[in-house]
Amino acid sequence: MTATRPTIDADVFTSSEYAANPYPTLKLLRDHYPVYQNPRSGMWMITRYDDVVACFRDSDRFSASPNGLTIGAVFGPTLMEYDGDEHTKLRNIVAPEFVGLKLKALMPVIVRNTMALIEKFTTSQAERIARSAASVGEIDIVDDFATRLPLNVILDVLDLPQEAHEMFHTWYPAMMNGINGSPEHRALGVAANQAYHDYLDPLIERRARNPGADLLSRLSVAEVDGHRMTKDEIKSFASLLLVAGAETTDKAIANLWYQLLANPAQWQAVQRDPELLEPAFSEMMRVHPPASGQMRRTIVDVTLHDVTIPAGSFVNLSIYGANRDERVFSNPDQFDIFRDDLNMGRELRSGFQKDGRSGHLGFGLGKHFCAGYQLARAETVVGTRELMKVIRNPRFKPGSKPTPIAIRLQPWSLPLEFDAA
Ligand code: HEM
Repeated sequence: MTATRPTIDADVFTSSEYAANPYPTLKLLRDHYPVYQNPRSGMWMITRYDDVVACFRDSDRFSASPNGLTIGAVFGPTLMEYDGDEHTKLRNIVAPEFVGLKLKALMPVIVRNTMALIEKFTTSQAERIARSAASVGEIDIVDDFATRLPLNVILDVLDLPQEAHEMFHTWYPAMMNGINGSPEHRALGVAANQAYHDYLDPLIERRARNPGADLLSRLSVAEVDGHRMTKDEIKSFASLLLVAGAETTDKAIANLWYQLLANPAQWQAVQRDPELLEPAFSEMMRVHPPASGQMRRTIVDVTLHDVTIPAGSFVNLSIYGANRDERVFSNPDQFDIFRDDLNMGRELRSGFQKDGRSGHLGFGLGKHFCAGYQLARAETVVGTRELMKVIRNPRFKPGSKPTPIAIRLQPWSLPLEFDAA
C-alpha cells in the first residue's frame, strides 16, 4: 500500500499553483495521507471530513492556543486562543450577542445598511451612465459592496461613526494581513490594531461610566458567572469583531456572487425564487468558504489512521479538504444549490449529519464554532437579495479574470457589467 502511494512534493504548499487551486493536492492527501506531516514546516494536516469533525470536537486533546500566535499576536488575547473555563467565561458573554432575539434586533441594521449602500451605488451609477451615455453599468462587487456592508453593520453594532468608514476600511485589511503575513505585514497589522485601540480607549471609558445600548457599552458592564471583561479584553474582542465580522463575510458575499454567475442556470433559479439564496449560502460555504482551515495544537499524543501525532504538534484542520470530501459529498467540486447531501439549513455548533445530509464546516465546529454564523448568513443573503433587484442581467466584466476568493494578502476584485436601462 505504502509503495503505491504517490509522493507529495512539500514545496507545493508554498506554490502559487496551490494558492490558486489547492483542491487536487487536498484530494491526494485525503486519499493517501489522511494524516500528513509536512516535512518542511513540521505541520500536520487533517483533510477528511470525519476526521476534521472529530478533531474540532475534541477540545480535550486539541488546543486552540495557535490562534494566539496569529490572531492574538495582532489583536491581543481573545477567546479564540483560550481553552476550557477561560474560553467558556468569555464565550458566554459574547456569543449570545449575535443569535436569536439579539440577531432579530440586528436585522433592521442589516437592511438599513444594505439599502444605504445600494442607494449610494445606484446614484453614482446613474450619474456615470448619464455622464458617459454608457449603455452598461459597472460594479465591483468587492469594493462597491462586499467589503462595505459587513463593516458598516459592525460599526453600527459597536456604535462607531459611519463617517469614519474609510479609516476602519483601511485598518481592518491591515490587521488581517498581519495575522499570517510577512514580518512587515505583521508590523503594519500591529500598528493598525494599536491605532484602533487608541481610538477605542476613551470611548470605552466613557461608555463604562455612561453605558448606551451598543455592544461596547454592554460588554463594559456585562457580568456572567461573576466574570467581567477587562478593558484589554474588550479592545481585543473589538479587534476580533472588526476583522472576523468584516474580512470573512466580505469573502462570503463575493464568493456567492462568483458562484451564482459562474453557474447561470442556478443564477436564474435564484432570481426566480430568492428563497433559494439560503441553500446557495450553505453551498457556497461548502465549496468556497472564506476560511481554509483552523490551527490546533495537540495536548497529548494523538493516534489517527495508525499515525501518531506527538503532543505539542501544530495541526491544520483543513476546512477546504473536509468540505470537498467525496466520502461525504458527491461530485464535491461542483457548486450545486440543489444537492441532496448537504444540510441547507442553519449550521449547528455540534455539527450536522442526518438523513444523508452533512453540514459544511465553514464556520468550524465545537467549542470555538463561529459566534457570528447567523449574522454572516443574514448579511450575505439580505445583501445579495437586495442588490440582485437593482442590477439587471449581471455578468463578469469581459477581460476580467473572475475567481473565488479566500482570505489572502493580494488585492482582489470582482468586476461585473450589467444592463443600464
Ligand atoms: C462568512 C463569514 C464568517 C466565516 C467564514 C467565519 C469563520 C469562523 C471560523 C472558521 C471560526 C472558528 C475558529 C476556530 O475554530 O479556531 C470562527 C470563530 C469566530 N467567529 Fe466567525 N466567521 C464569519 C463571520 C463572523 C462574524 C460576522 C462574526 C462577528 C459578529 C464572527 C465572529 C467570530 C468569533 C467571535 C469567533 C470565535 C469564537 C470562539 O472562539 O469561541 N464571525 N469564525
